[in-house]
Amino acid sequence: MADPTYNLNGGFKPTLKRFADLQGPDFFPTPRWATFALVENEKFTGDVWECACGDGAMSRVFEETGTRVISSDLYDRGYGEVGVDFLNPQRSADNIVTNPPYNCAEGFVASGVRHSKHKFALLLRLAFLEGANRASTIFSRTPPSRVWVFSERITFYPKGVDPKGSGTTAYAWFVWDKDAPGSTELKWLKPGYKARFA
Ligand SMILES: C[S@@+](CC[C@H](N)C(=O)[O-])C[C@H]1O[C@@H](n2cnc3c(N)ncnc32)[C@H](O)[C@@H]1O
Repeated sequence: MADPTYNLNGGFKPTLKRFADLQGPDFFPTPRWATFALVENEKFTGDVWECACGDGAMSRVFEETGTRVISSDLYDRGYGEVGVDFLNPQRSADNIVTNPPYNCAEGFVASGVRHSKHKFALLLRLAFLEGANRASTIFSRTPPSRVWVFSERITFYPKGVDPKGSGTTAYAWFVWDKDAPGSTELKWLKPGYKARFA
């Protein structure tokens, strides 16, 4: 599928860091160290489906660790199966992991909780914890099992842009674990991932 960002916004501004791309498909590859921070703290049994895989930045980290990875995206980013809308998926997987588009993160939570057999992990802004609507829906009905807060800031850039400067937004891994339903445990990721897995 063609990427509508380029047409809707009248051209991409390649120097921008991540912004809330409320109309477009929101393509910002995840720095590999941020995925390693999850892999080193959560055990995934079985395969992992990267359901909004972009150019494969996250999928490659799981592949490096010997995990069987299924990769798909709604748009053609040059990696995985194309044209798969995660808001209406036709398959399930042992585990599902991704960094979703800002503009439909809630829909990704609903779909991921439903279609993962063991764990479902989303990289989201820490501020996703806030909000009256989410409090009375996601966090009261299907709260995550663990929230791993990053102690180092992640900076997202559009693909191909030279990383410069540091991020201003706090992020966390939100993990729904079918073997640990119920309340939410708040955990902190130790500093050092950025340097180790740059
Ligand atoms: C912020 S990027 C993250 C890419 C990749 N997960 C990573 O972490 O490097 C979000 C991705 O979601 C994809 N996307 C947007 N809407 C989608 C949908 N409904 N179903 C599947 N993928 C979608 C975009 O094409 C984009 O590649």
